[in-house]
Amino acid sequence: MKGKDNFRELLGIHLVEAKDGSAKLMMTVAKDHTNALGFTHGGVIFSFADCAFAEASNFGDKVAVAVQVSINFLRPTVEGDVLTAEATRISDGKTFGVYSISVRKEDKTVALFNGLAYKQ
Ligand SMILES: CC(C)(COP(=O)(O)OP(=O)(O)OC[C@H]1O[C@@H](n2cnc3c(N)ncnc32)[C@H](O)[C@@H]1OP(=O)(O)O)[C@@H](O)C(=O)NCCC(=O)NCCS
Repeated sequence: MKGKDNFRELLGIHLVEAKDGSAKLMMTVAKDHTNALGFTHGGVIFSFADCAFAEASNFGDKVAVAVQVSINFLRPTVEGDVLTAEATRISDGKTFGVYSISVRKEDKTVALFNGLAYKQ
C-alpha cells in the first residue's frame, strides 16, 4: 500500500505480510483499546479488520476505497491478547472487489468482517 496509515500506527497495528489480494496484520490489545466492560472496544476490532481490508485492496499501486462493510463480533478479547487480522480477496471485478477478513486470537475467531471495495 502506498503512503502511511496514520490511524493504524496510532492503534499499534503492525503489518506482517501483504500480497495482491491478501494481507496479515497483528496487534496486542492495550488498556487504551478497552471499553467500560474491560473488553476490546468494538471500534478497535473494526478498525483492525478495516486496516487488513485496506492493505489487501490497495496492494502496490492499486487504489480502492471501502463502499460497504459488515462485521460480526464473535468473541470478546481483553488487554494483553495478541490478535491477527487476515484479509482474503473473494471476488475481483472491474469495478468492485469483495474481501473477507477474519480476526483471530490464536485458533479462535474473534470477528468476521466482509468488505466491498470500489477500485479507482
Ligand atoms: C455476543 C456473544 C456473547 C454471543 O455468544 P454466542 O453466540 O451465544 O456464543 P457463546 O455463548 O458460545 O460465546 C462465544 C464465545 O464468547 C465467549 N464469551 C461469551 N461471553 C463472554 C464473556 N462475558 N466473557 C468472556 N468470554 C465470553 C465464550 O466463552 C465463547 O468462547 P469459546 O467458544 O472460546 O468458549 C459473543 O458472540 C460475544 O461475546 N461476542 C463479542 C462481543 C464483543 O466483544 N463486542 C465488541 C465490544 S462491545
